[in-house]
Amino acid sequence: MKGDFVDARKHQSGYDEGHACRFPASPCDGKIKLPRPIFDAFKTQIADVLLRVFHKRRFIILDLMMPPSPNRDIARTWKYHNATKHSEWSIRASPHYLDWQNHPFPFKIYTTIDPNPLPKDADQTGIVALSAIGASSVPGDAEKVPALGDLARILYFSAGITKKKTYAGGEIYFRAASCTGALYEFELYLVCNDLPDWKAGVYHFSPGDFALRLLRAGDFRGVLVHATASESSIARAPAIIVCAGTYWRNSWKYRTRTYRHFGWDNGTILANMLAMASALRLPAKVVLGFVDSEVNALLDLDTSREVAFSMVSLGRINGESPATPRELSKLNFPTIPLSKSEIDYPGLREIHEASSLETREEVAEWRSAASRWERAAARATRVRQGDASRGGGRVRDSGPTDPIEQVILRRGSTRKFERQPITLDQLLTILTTSTQPIWPGFSLLNNLYLIINAVDGLAPGAYYYHVATADLELLKSGNFRNEARYLGLQQDLPGDAAADVFFLAPLDPILDVFGNRGYRVTQLEAGMLGGKIYLAAYALRLGATGLTFFDDDVTQFFSPHAAGKSATFLVAIGKGRKPPQ
Ligand SMILES: Cc1cc2nc3c(=O)[nH]c(=O)nc-3n(C[C@H](O)[C@H](O)[C@H](O)COP(=O)(O)O)c2cc1C
Repeated sequence: MKGDFVDARKHQSGYDEGHACRFPASPCDGKIKLPRPIFDAFKTQIADVLLRVFHKRRFIILDLMMPPSPNRDIARTWKYHNATKHSEWSIRASPHYLDWQNHPFPFKIYTTIDPNPLPKDADQTGIVALSAIGASSVPGDAEKVPALGDLARILYFSAGITKKKTYAGGEIYFRAASCTGALYEFELYLVCNDLPDWKAGVYHFSPGDFALRLLRAGDFRGVLVHATASESSIARAPAIIVCAGTYWRNSWKYRTRTYRHFGWDNGTILANMLAMASALRLPAKVVLGFVDSEVNALLDLDTSREVAFSMVSLGRINGESPATPRELSKLNFPTIPLSKSEIDYPGLREIHEASSLETREEVAEWRSAASRWERAAARATRVRQGDASRGGGRVRDSGPTDPIEQVILRRGSTRKFERQPITLDQLLTILTTSTQPIWPGFSLLNNLYLIINAVDGLAPGAYYYHVATADLELLKSGNFRNEARYLGLQQDLPGDAAADVFFLAPLDPILDVFGNRGYRVTQLEAGMLGGKIYLAAYALRLGATGLTFFDDDVTQFFSPHAAGKSATFLVAIGKGRKPPQ
């Protein structure tokens, strides 16, 4: 892969262009809150006394004593979700014109920190793309510490600049993972211990000049161990990547719907990251349960504009977990303004706050809820298995042997599909490869529904995909190209594609088990699955594109099977008019 990195230094020449940045102050919600330190000081003592007296009714006492967790107020997710649905009517009623003069700069640039260039001359892993995408975890307990070259490859193939296009208004730097509107609102931060060839610290990854910038020197992993309530992979990871989203970089175009995009656009990055980690034989795990404020403080984020969304543990070391956190100083490093002015969409901060976890105890409780979800999922699978008509068959593990890096480099969103069929084998290879467990030991939250337009060996129609058995269940047969076009926001792409994969999630039980944080997980998982489908399709030399959709119409189309579920994402697959290189 030598020489494949795009030299984007030219793009950095605008570093010191100063713009006045307008940003409204956070509005006050008018509620009076109990001062947290006072409450915390007394809470334990009072609760202890009451528990001794009423220990058999502990849960009632605790309910009375704890301030209601925002995460449990799931009406807030429904409010956000319903308010950001697309329908034919909502698109007409609320047109949005893009202010290109105010187009946000797609990079976070620290103006006063020197870059530490990352190595650009790594060899390819040689690992076949489909096996890297489909691997759910690296087995074994052996120690594995990444070298800087490994981290460089992971960062580059997840969020690096892979293509540049020049157009009348300027240049677009396309990245390794797809992103709504090519707005690239996610930043990656590395938190690591001393590595064989790299010093411990908290770093910001800058794709523009392919460098790391040091924000804090020393080993700060203990902050993340604390914030995740000692999640085991984080406690043993020599390196952790934290992904943070910047609202305005996406809301410039998508307004309040941006929080859904956070999940999708972070998810596609993680799909690439997991595939690369697997190709490098590095254990990696996506972790979403953490005390938000502690992680944001570590990165010194201005949380009215940028927030941590997910983290990934990389590698494994046995022995002591990192020391408990020290006091975190404010950093206040200046960064260049993104636009002349910014428009605030308070709904974004509201849903983020609603899905935030506030204490380690809440994180631990949240994580343990996953087993409740698993029991519910197991029951649902048992009930449904009887009704599945066998549409598929097992996947043959054959096909192109391009390494994962080549596939990531040639991936791009297909802009026009030929109305030509793909094979059933190709479709099932894409589906089985992409739906391997994302959460070790736990089922997916999203369900997959398909419109089949042209797949050799499969009648056109609407299908449900059974992840556990890799079977396609026919829901209704017919030519649904027009419906697919309509559901995908009246774009030609889903009408012309060979197959459209819709993700729908049963939000009621998800929110019941996981609270509002479950909404984040669901959107992120949809993005990860979509990102894997992109990669698997390109591994087979097919095309793919993510798409947005008319929410309730999607549910209605797949009902009664999909009744009560919410549409989360759509990916179209087929033969691109311009074959991928
Ligand atoms: C979640 C998601 C939704 C998308 N929705 C659309 C869409 O509705 N229409 C479209 O033409 N492209 C859509 N795209 C494709 C993006 O525009 C594309 O990823 C972006 O321009 C970057 O280009 P690339 O994927 O070729 O690297 C979507 C991509 C993602 C990840």
